[in-house]
Amino acid sequence: MATTQWQKKLEIPGRVFFTEGNGDLSKLKINTAWSEAEVYLHGAHVTHFQKKNEPPLLFMSQFSRFQDGSPIRGGIPLIFPWFGSREGQPAHGFARTQEWELREIAQSPDGQVALRLSLPDSPQAALLPKFTVEYCVTIGQTLAAELIVTNESKDQDLTFENCLHTYFQVGDISAVSVTGLKGVDYLDQTENFARKTERLDHIKVSSETDRIYLDTTAATEIHDSKLQRRIHIETAGSRSTVVWNPWVNKSQQMPDFGNEEFHQMICVESGNVAENKITLPAGKKSSLKIVLSTLAL
Ligand code: BG6
Repeated sequence: MATTQWQKKLEIPGRVFFTEGNGDLSKLKINTAWSEAEVYLHGAHVTHFQKKNEPPLLFMSQFSRFQDGSPIRGGIPLIFPWFGSREGQPAHGFARTQEWELREIAQSPDGQVALRLSLPDSPQAALLPKFTVEYCVTIGQTLAAELIVTNESKDQDLTFENCLHTYFQVGDISAVSVTGLKGVDYLDQTENFARKTERLDHIKVSSETDRIYLDTTAATEIHDSKLQRRIHIETAGSRSTVVWNPWVNKSQQMPDFGNEEFHQMICVESGNVAENKITLPAGKKSSLKIVLSTLAL
């Protein structure tokens, strides 16, 4: 997709520029003193973030599709206005397959770069009470993303789910544990949404794992003893945490995911899903924010 004059005008020389991404989709490349990142307008999708002298933070499948109408597999798919499957509709909503509009690129005095994008109007959006969605991504020493939904209607509630479906790159799933969820109730999607309580400080993944942790605002961490790093996930406006790894069989069923790639990834997703869905009164705003940082283990 050719870069428009308006898009060119937003570029910051040496810091942010447009380039042709996979599948001819528009991609922004961002360089800061601490890190580099890539963001597709398709889905407002962050596909890459890497701090200098560290492995990438985000996992990207080698088999991802990059095409109109399909979500990108890896990075941070942006899930809105519903999570999971919905009869006759695309899984995880329509926001991740739309071409978002870039509104602004700003550089702060300390050298962080912030992008602001908005979800365009669409026939699917028109079926809901009037709303707008903005997404701000800030790249620096950390990677931050904020999804802001405004109910623009005069008198109707807007009910929705949202989720920043972050795929993290890990050295090997056998060397990984997730902390911060002990004592939290979850719905086990591998057992027909059975409700359970997390008993472990350090959650290990050794089979298909697909859990919606509910009513939790605590920060989580991914401990990776192979890459010798800890990924810290700080959230605001998030009441659900989803932990997902497809393991062997599910990986084989997904055409846009390699059979062995589950060894190198884990999704720890932040949002408001299932019984934590949001009902936003007319005229109100909601914000979901994550800040991702890495530390040595
Ligand atoms: C997770 C869900 O968030 O996303 C899983 O909990 C789902 O059930 C996974 O399989 C991937 O979804 P999709 O639509 O991107 O293949």
